[in-house]
Amino acid sequence: MGEAIYPVPESWASGALVNAAQYQDRYVRSVNDPEEFWREEARRIDWIRPFTRVKNTSFHEADFGIRWFEDGTLNLCANALDRHLAERGDAIAILWEADDPTEPERRITYRELHEQVCRFANLLKQQGVGRGHRVTIYLPMVPEAAVAMLACARIGAIHSIVFAGFSPDALAGRIKDCDSSIVLTADEGLRGGRKVPLKANVDEALNQCPGVTSVIMLRRTGADVPMLAGRDVDWHEGVASQSADCPAEEMGAEDPLFILYTSGSTGKPKGVMHTTGGYAVWASMTHHYVFDYRPGQIYWCAADIGWVTGHSYVVYGPLMNGATTVMFEGVPNWPDPSRFWQVVDKFGVEIFYGAPTALRALMREGDEWVKKTSRSTLRLLGSVGEPINPEAWEWYHKVVGERRCPIVDTWWQTETGGTMITPLPGATALKPGSATLPFFGVQPMLVDNDGKPIEGAGDGCLVITDSWPGQMRGVWGDSERFFQTYFTTFPGLYFTGDGCRRDADGYYWITGRIDDVINVSGHRMGTAEIESALVAHSRVAEAAVVGMPHDIKGQGIYAFVTCNAEVEPDEALRKELVQWVRHEIGPIATPDIIQFTPALPKTRSGKIMRRILRKIGENDVSNLGDTSTLADPSVVDHLLANRPAT
Ligand code: WT7
Repeated sequence: MGEAIYPVPESWASGALVNAAQYQDRYVRSVNDPEEFWREEARRIDWIRPFTRVKNTSFHEADFGIRWFEDGTLNLCANALDRHLAERGDAIAILWEADDPTEPERRITYRELHEQVCRFANLLKQQGVGRGHRVTIYLPMVPEAAVAMLACARIGAIHSIVFAGFSPDALAGRIKDCDSSIVLTADEGLRGGRKVPLKANVDEALNQCPGVTSVIMLRRTGADVPMLAGRDVDWHEGVASQSADCPAEEMGAEDPLFILYTSGSTGKPKGVMHTTGGYAVWASMTHHYVFDYRPGQIYWCAADIGWVTGHSYVVYGPLMNGATTVMFEGVPNWPDPSRFWQVVDKFGVEIFYGAPTALRALMREGDEWVKKTSRSTLRLLGSVGEPINPEAWEWYHKVVGERRCPIVDTWWQTETGGTMITPLPGATALKPGSATLPFFGVQPMLVDNDGKPIEGAGDGCLVITDSWPGQMRGVWGDSERFFQTYFTTFPGLYFTGDGCRRDADGYYWITGRIDDVINVSGHRMGTAEIESALVAHSRVAEAAVVGMPHDIKGQGIYAFVTCNAEVEPDEALRKELVQWVRHEIGPIATPDIIQFTPALPKTRSGKIMRRILRKIGENDVSNLGDTSTLADPSVVDHLLANRPAT
């Protein structure tokens, strides 16, 4: 596929926080002298007791440990709120848009948010929550979710957010794993015009969790839900009597801030644990530079707080930078596919950060939904969560951003706390589909399967050779698992689980999880590459490719393909797509099977559940494993019922 290059636009080159020369210079400094670099950068945080020691980290078994700014103390909530009150107290911190466009928006200033957080923190304390206690948050995308997070941070409690789309079982598992005694929830959530019975889910989950002694429930829809006397507290009644004065706890830099559960390739979800000081530096700094953020700008990250993107780039990063952050309760395509862009127009959003899966879904609906909105305030676009195929990238750039907005395609993970490989809009020429270059302090390396470093252009496993402040510090309750999962595949290196290509310009192209890499006749191929080719076809909306056993080639290629709305897939199209892929990549990438399907099995965060597709590809469908995180389990039944004969 052709490799377009988009140079930094004139206006960005001259006006941005970081230009190309500055990026080069500072990147070199950040890796040559991390002590000095981070000592300086960490000044962006208000420390209570300044740190003297900057970095104390090792990825090696003998002296394994990750500690940053370890003798410093701070409070993250104070950094997100209190420090802004004198100068920006009346600026809007959170701009909230409801699911239903006819419901009024909410505009919450820093001063108001501070007050709400203090009152709620006092309610938590009254419920017995203190330093180091785990608080499970199962809330929809409402401002109170941010209030809850910040209140935990204020009193030194550790929050564990469980995405409000997860089932009662999944919720119970996460409550038990971190042994939390309190759950924060709402009567119901609202998404795409549908109600989600959150309180009922909590009640069901708690049948399995005798350790939970307190539930604080926010009234969102006013539904008539049973309240258990002695356990359940009404949020607003509870805060009404609380003082608006709540001192911020002095926390150690390495005290835990939050746990967030994420799926690995094996076993039950792991509680990824982040600590306070390094995460604060990383979330605020990456938000500042990657989005070139200046106070006063309207910024919207369309992620749910149930995912790490919502933690770092809806709440913590933006608020530490004094931003106005948009919080959206709804979905991209309800009531219609213009919804995102209507919200952009309503609030005058300048920076929009979204996921490729949403973009592909909207692209499939046609350009008119975008074009009938203005979007004239947009100046920067972002992408996160999965590789963005060049076709979606070009659409985002041309149709949504009208060619004037750079796109920051940010590669990172729950484990990394914030962006790792990403363009900076004033510094980096863009290549559609590439996350481009490492952020300050990030040292990526490609290694082959034996761990041998690959120099220059090439393909390999993406590892990071040294620690960065935002790195996770452990798997909750299982210190062995942290080291085992990330540092034993390639001893002494952090293994990301991703495959990656580096081109002659040093640009990184994430090819997908290593477990998605397939080997066809001895040739390694990123499934993302084949998917990208399929999706580049005008009638294809989305595609997922997995390996399948093949007598001659070792592995064959099994492609699940979703067509655009008006397309009726048939044998002719199947043949055409096979030819198309051969043409786009080469005969080696010829799909062996194409299964047309109206939808792909996705988690509620929109990630395709490849594990299931791989099992179907391998014809090993007797045990598909845990499907509890699927948005729509019936998709799997449909796939199974319609497998093409081999
Ligand atoms: C995995 C991490 C990043 C926060 C949300 C997802 C994939 C993420 C990109 C990107 C290519 C990407 C990787 C990574 N990924 N962003 N810009 N380009 N791949 O966090 O659920 O922990 O998933 O998402 O495979 O390992 P996560």
